[in-house]
Amino acid sequence: MSASGKGDRLDWWRQARFGMFIHWGVYAIPGRGEWIMYQEHIPVEEYAALADQFNPQAFDPSAWVAAAQNAGMKYMVLTARHHDGYCLFDSKVSDFTSVKKAAKRDFVAEFVEACRAADMRVGLYYSLIDWRFPGVLPRSLNRDAATCRPMVEQAHAQVRELLTQYGTIDILWYDMLDPHDPVLWRSRELNAMARELQPDILINNRAGLPEDFGTPENQVVAEDRAWEACYTMNRSWAYCPTDRNYKPARELIRLLASCASGGGNLLLNISPDAEGHIPLEQDLTLKEIGRWLRAHGKAIYGAVKPPFEAPGLGMASRVGDRIYLLLQRWPGTTLPFAWCGSTVTAARLLATGQDLRIEQRGDRVWLHGLPADAPDLNLNVVELEFDGEPRASEPPYQ
Ligand code: GLC
Repeated sequence: MSASGKGDRLDWWRQARFGMFIHWGVYAIPGRGEWIMYQEHIPVEEYAALADQFNPQAFDPSAWVAAAQNAGMKYMVLTARHHDGYCLFDSKVSDFTSVKKAAKRDFVAEFVEACRAADMRVGLYYSLIDWRFPGVLPRSLNRDAATCRPMVEQAHAQVRELLTQYGTIDILWYDMLDPHDPVLWRSRELNAMARELQPDILINNRAGLPEDFGTPENQVVAEDRAWEACYTMNRSWAYCPTDRNYKPARELIRLLASCASGGGNLLLNISPDAEGHIPLEQDLTLKEIGRWLRAHGKAIYGAVKPPFEAPGLGMASRVGDRIYLLLQRWPGTTLPFAWCGSTVTAARLLATGQDLRIEQRGDRVWLHGLPADAPDLNLNVVELEFDGEPRASEPPYQ
């Protein structure tokens, strides 16, 4: 239930289906990923010098928002603070912040403002672990509650800051409950505070409690509750110019389709450079996904699991009483599918808008009149209407 009592607080999020994740911080300067402090065993003081250099004059969050909007994304989640402890926001309980160091700016404030100006939903990522605290690294150490207490106190204070300083925050995206012990972190209390400060906020499961949604990482796992797969475009979360392992737009579109057909969301990551620019490959990919969504978004936004699929041809999604066949391969001029327990009354190809001729015998259906070659090079979609609610002829198997 939402705080106002009107519907479910997850309604907008289920409708959204596609969001932008942003990993950005001082680690963008060396450009070897956000784990560099740990991976290269950089002492706290040496790492801290990065904050004296991090001063992105070109930072313009409205450009990020525009890129997300053009890509068809409906919400954005920014790393307010990652494992390295550097805060992109003003914090009374830390001196390692963008406001107190070289940049002298509150990036979270600017980001939230840019989102609000464009009606974009806002999420903040917050890493519970902070590698700067004594005794927290190496991870293999047996860290007891007393060692972790200052870090836990900081987390409670900073979550409070993030949820009081910037108006409405739609999503609280925790990460790295390490040690993995919700009692040590007082996660229940933390989330109760978050909900008191922001009654409609959505909270992920990474403070060790289930809360609103699951977060499969770099994999699609359809859960029986709200879930969101988060994915990198290459193999790095943060800026890493030597990582050229980019997934083609076509693959990411299929990923989005598979999330939607499983009733889940895709949170696709970008990794801006130290000036805040989105790398060219990422920008081009976002534009390509946006082009596809403008023609095929009806199959994605608000999609849930369908009662039947198109086995052999691909996936399907359901929006209202319509079914969308998300074709993994082009069938040629006739598209056969089966297990359809309702009468198909209309069928059209979204890429061209053309109506298809329907032939139905029992639960077997043939759609005629498709072009010989696939009109969309990424992913083609056929929209189906029925004489009522769509049903499978047999209960769907898992
Ligand atoms: C992992 C990584 C972290 C990244 C996150 C995104 O937990 O440790 O660097 O931010 O995944 O889901």
